[in-house]
Amino acid sequence: MRSGYGRSIFEPLLPLILGRDISGEVAAIGGSVRSLRVGQEVFGALHPTAVRGTYADYAILSEDELTTKPSSVTHVEASTIPFAALTAWRALKSTARIARGQRLLVLGGGAVGLAAIQLAVASGCHVTTTCGSQSVERVLAAGAEQAVDYTAEDIELVIKGQFDAVLDTIGAPETERIGINFLKRGGHYMTLQGEAASMADRYGFFLGIPMATALLLKKQIQYRSSHGIEYSWTYMRADSEGLHEIRKLLEAGKLKIPVDKTFPITQVIQAHEAKDKKLILGKVVLEVD
Ligand SMILES: NC(=O)c1ccc[n+]([C@@H]2O[C@H](COP(=O)([O-])OP(=O)(O)OC[C@H]3O[C@@H](n4cnc5c(N)ncnc54)[C@H](OP(=O)(O)O)[C@@H]3O)[C@@H](O)[C@H]2O)c1
Repeated sequence: MRSGYGRSIFEPLLPLILGRDISGEVAAIGGSVRSLRVGQEVFGALHPTAVRGTYADYAILSEDELTTKPSSVTHVEASTIPFAALTAWRALKSTARIARGQRLLVLGGGAVGLAAIQLAVASGCHVTTTCGSQSVERVLAAGAEQAVDYTAEDIELVIKGQFDAVLDTIGAPETERIGINFLKRGGHYMTLQGEAASMADRYGFFLGIPMATALLLKKQIQYRSSHGIEYSWTYMRADSEGLHEIRKLLEAGKLKIPVDKTFPITQVIQAHEAKDKKLILGKVVLEVD
């Protein structure tokens, strides 16, 4: 977003505040709020198009975007979870409707990939993941039964059998091709790299969105007839029921996204530079004094 992603939506609304995830204490509530009280420790995430983000001392979220933070985890630990886990939740639970005993292939072992592995394992699924060499231990620790290092191995030779669902967190033409070929008939391919925002950025909102919808429909029809599979672009969405289930898994120690480094919120620039230059592999958390 800082470098222009989503400009067709955000440009007229500038300046905007970045940040989606949050963990902290409720400072005030609106008159209609029933499930939260002042002083309660909560965590959650804003929806993807929010303009007033969480890089702030005080952020405003709706009731369904927050839930109680388990006392067993710190605010820093809790803040890494919601956006990534809700993204994985939407794909696996709402779109693919994964069930016990099914096989899931996760392409990419970053934050969303790690959340997806743990949600699927908690649902009784068997997970295979592709990731870079430095992430292999992490994805195995998260519960993947097989971790394939895409930098050293030929994914198509190493992975055996077919899958009920593929979550592609990379969304490159090559990962799309590989993911689709690994699916059983009736399986679900889901990419996090839907083209709605990028096409709206390129062609303008009113031309880009219908073009993206047409492209999605074309791919859905094409893959249904060629492979018998369901194809979707999947997006994070606020989901209070999902967040509640995510909280239960966090509380039970079944969901964790490791924190690689924290920065004081005054060092946002340094934090972004460290991620851009790939000096830090995993999650970075900004702490408010
Ligand atoms: N649609 C939505 O609503 C939504 C929501 C959240 C995130 N996203 C997008 O989804 C993507 C993933 O998010 P994230 O938070 O999980 O990011 P992340 O933590 O940066 O993870 C990306 C991971 O992918 C791995 N990777 C890169 N190329 C790969 C390949 N060819 N095969 C296998 N693994 C590969 C990287 O591993 P190495 O560094 O080891 O190579 C990295 O660990 C981002 O582009 C993000 O913007 C979309």
